[in-house]
Amino acid sequence: MPVFTTDFLGHCLQSVLLNASGVHCTTAEQLSILYKEPVAGVVSKSATLEPKTGNPKPRYWDDGTISINAMGLPNNGLDYYLKTAIDVPKNSDQLFILSVAGIDIEQNYDIFKKINAFTEIDAIELNLSCPNLPNHPIIAYNFSVFEKILKEVVAINKKPLGIKLPPYFESHQFDTVSQILNKSGIQFISTINSIPNALIIDIETETPVIYPKKGLGGLGGSFVKPTTLANIYQFHERLNSDISIIGCGGIQNGGDVFEHILCGASLVEIGTQLAVEGPAVFSRIQSELFDIMKQKNYKTIADFKGKLKFKETI
Ligand code: DHB
Repeated sequence: MPVFTTDFLGHCLQSVLLNASGVHCTTAEQLSILYKEPVAGVVSKSATLEPKTGNPKPRYWDDGTISINAMGLPNNGLDYYLKTAIDVPKNSDQLFILSVAGIDIEQNYDIFKKINAFTEIDAIELNLSCPNLPNHPIIAYNFSVFEKILKEVVAINKKPLGIKLPPYFESHQFDTVSQILNKSGIQFISTINSIPNALIIDIETETPVIYPKKGLGGLGGSFVKPTTLANIYQFHERLNSDISIIGCGGIQNGGDVFEHILCGASLVEIGTQLAVEGPAVFSRIQSELFDIMKQKNYKTIADFKGKLKFKETI
C-alpha cells in the first residue's frame, strides 16, 4: 500500500481527503460519522458567532454531478463547533479544522478572539468567499478589504490559519492575491469555493431550481474541476513554499484527486460528491487513488505533488 507522507501543518496524515465545509458537517453526529471514514480530518460548517437558520428552502440542488446552493450559512453557532471539537471522538492523527465566516468584518475579529483558548482546534479555515449572504459581496474579491482583514485576524490569531478563497480567473488577480497572502503569515489556502452566482433552470416549471436570491447560487461539482485545477496551479506557482494548498472542486474519483495533487494540493476537500454519495465516497476514492499510485509506481504523495508536466519538457 502506498505511504502517505503529507506534510500538512507538520502533521503526518494517513489520507489526503477532507469534506468540503458545508457538506455533512453541520452537526456533531455528521462530523462523528466522517471521522470513521479514511479522512485526514474534518472541516466544520462555517460558523458564525450566533446560530443561523439560513435562507428559505429549496436552497440546495444537485443532479448527481453538479450542484447549486444558496444556503445562507445555516449553522449552530461558534460555541457549538468549539464544543464539538472537544466532544466528538477521532483518531489522534485526524484534524479538526474549524471553518468560520463572520457575517460582517467586525464579527470575524470577535470570532478569532474566542477561538484562541481552544486547544482541540487544529486549524482554522477562514471563509472569505461565501457567495450567499444577501448584501454582502465576496470579501476576497475586494483586495484592500481582504488585506486589512487578514492583517487584523493574524494579529489576534494563535492557531494554524488558512483562507477559503473564491475562484479567480485572471493572472493579475493571482498576482495580487498571492502578494497579499505571501506577506500575511497564514499557513494554507483552500481553493476554490463554489463559483458564485450561477443559475440553473428547470425547463418544466420554467423556474430556477433553488429559491433564494432569485435562483442565483454557488456552483459546485464536476463542471468546476478545470477552474479548481487552474486555481491550485496558479497559486502553487506564486505562493511561498511554506503556504500549503487544499484543493476543492469537482472531485468525483481518485483520478480527480491525483490531478489536484499534481497541480500542487497537499490535501483535497470533497463537496458535491459527498452530498450525492454519502460518507462511503471517502473509502472508494482513497482506493482509486491508491490504484493509480500503484500503476504509476508512486510510493508517496511527495512523488507527484506539484509535479505537473508540460509537453515540451517530457
Ligand atoms: C455557504 C456557501 C458557501 O459557498 C460557503 O463558502 C459558505 C456558506 C452558505 O450559503 O451557507
